Amino acid sequence: MKTAVISGGGSGLGRELAKVYSNEGYHILLLGRTKEKLQSVKEEIAVDGSTASCITLDIACPEDVQKISKEINDKHDVQLLINNAGVGIFGPFLDMPFEEMDKMLSVNFSGTVYLTKALLPAMVEKDSGSILNIISTAGLRGKKHESYYAASKFALRGFAESLQKEFEETGIQIINAYMGGMNTPFWDESEHVQDPSRLRSPREVAEIIYEESKISAEIIIESK
Ligand SMILES: NC(=O)c1ccc[n+]([C@@H]2O[C@H](COP(=O)([O-])OP(=O)(O)OC[C@H]3O[C@@H](n4cnc5c(N)ncnc54)[C@H](OP(=O)(O)O)[C@@H]3O)[C@@H](O)[C@H]2O)c1
Repeated sequence: MKTAVISGGGSGLGRELAKVYSNEGYHILLLGRTKEKLQSVKEEIAVDGSTASCITLDIACPEDVQKISKEINDKHDVQLLINNAGVGIFGPFLDMPFEEMDKMLSVNFSGTVYLTKALLPAMVEKDSGSILNIISTAGLRGKKHESYYAASKFALRGFAESLQKEFEETGIQIINAYMGGMNTPFWDESEHVQDPSRLRSPREVAEIIYEESKISAEIIIESK
């Protein structure tokens, strides 16, 4: 059975993408750091009559990603990798501690690179598969008090667009999605957005991504 691996699948957009793709015949493999969140999405998918499994993993740790890649490739026919896990820390640049800046770059950029490097070789061997990169409109243009978040997403965009060109003559499809604000737990610890309930729902964004990915390798979903 074809498998879709989704990083950050335990909440927000990752959770909704998991449910959308599980309805399309994929076994869903959820990755994230919090076991309970992954387990609860796995159960929601089972209620809908589809199957999911989960692996607890910090994608920013290259050794851990390498370790689980063998397990994933041995047990699964990975046809879709959704690079969705991400963190956002916002505020004036001069107030931003180095540890927070490092965290954003190591999860949003390096973690995505590690996971891609671990799972792409099996797709290359089959000459088939898709990688969907969840970026952000912060990867298209800088915004006030988002300097380092935007920098991490610009880095991701550079990586993702370059892969698109590298694999364009192959059976591997690289799709890059840039969305504006969504009402997810992403904003739980932040005051950067006044009223997250006014943002798009992650379900709406997941459905748009699913539909548009059939016809375009670049998806832009601006804020409402
Ligand atoms: N919400 C927005 O307004 C918005 C707008 C544009 C783009 N985005 C992007 O959309 C993506 C999904 O975010 P969301 O809004 O759905 O927020 P979210 O609910 O906070 O989801 C992020 C997920 O990433 C996981 N994660 C974080 N660090 C990780 C790590 N080191 N290793 C593995 N998993 C990790 C989190 O789970 P654990 O903490 O359990 O690991 C969480 O489930 C992110 O890339 C974000 O940058 C969000």
